[in-house]
Amino acid sequence: MNLLIMGPPGAGKGTQAVEVAKELKIPHISTGDMLREAVKQGTEMGKKAKEYMDKGQLVPDEVIIGVVRDRLGQPDCKAGFLLDGFPRTLPQAEALDETLKNVGIKIDAVININVPRERIVARITGRRVCRACGDTYHVVNKPPQESGKCDKCGGELYQRSDDTEETVNKRLDVYEAQTQPLLDYYGRQGLVKDINGDQEIGKVLQDILDTLKQIKG
Ligand code: AP5
Ligand code: MG
Ligand code: ZN
Repeated sequence: MNLLIMGPPGAGKGTQAVEVAKELKIPHISTGDMLREAVKQGTEMGKKAKEYMDKGQLVPDEVIIGVVRDRLGQPDCKAGFLLDGFPRTLPQAEALDETLKNVGIKIDAVININVPRERIVARITGRRVCRACGDTYHVVNKPPQESGKCDKCGGELYQRSDDTEETVNKRLDVYEAQTQPLLDYYGRQGLVKDINGDQEIGKVLQDILDTLKQIKG
């Protein structure tokens, strides 16, 4: 299946995408993770992207579109893919359509995770991420067994530099202004599957998998 996962910052896109991708045996492609990797590697793109990310702004379309196009051209995407955090603007959505059209494939569904805005700040400020493997935790909702240490690989847990209360509000504003309108774009194509993200992590996953089962028939 070729899937998109959408929703505001902190909705649980990454948390759910990891599990859904594992279940469907398709790659999870997170543009946020790819950009953070570029920042870590200190590439030119990473240096430029960091300035936007730390302010809660989107990196320019022309930067990210090329990155995603290259990634979707990799052989593992032949089996399908789950895109997390892309597209985020109308030009990105149009570029994706164009890329997919050229290889004759279509998006099967857009999973839209809904979480009320007032819940989001607590989710984001409590998030901790493994520096080594990228696994995501939450100090209250999904604590690691040992504080500050990844359950999976023992790596050090850190707080993303854009996970401050101030930046979160900016990211939410940017989401509402630039990304939320894409739900109409995909809604007109009948692709949007709304999921209640204000439930326990396992229940959200179950709802997503049940919804996808109905699509596959
Ligand atoms: P990105 O990394 O995509 O960040 P985001 O969209 O703000 O989303 P998050 O990763 O913050 O949230 P999430 O929905 O994945 O939540 P998670 O599962 O971690 O992008 C970062 C930046 O990169 C952007 O601001 C932009 O600058 C740039 N960028 C990226 N893509 C771009 C693009 N296409 N164009 C331009 N710029 C781009 O969960 C959050 C927390 O909540 C965790 O601690 C988790 O444990 C907890 N949690 C999850 N689910 C639940 C639940 N059901 N109940 C309780 N707690 C939960
Ligand atoms: Mg994420
Ligand atoms: Zn780890």
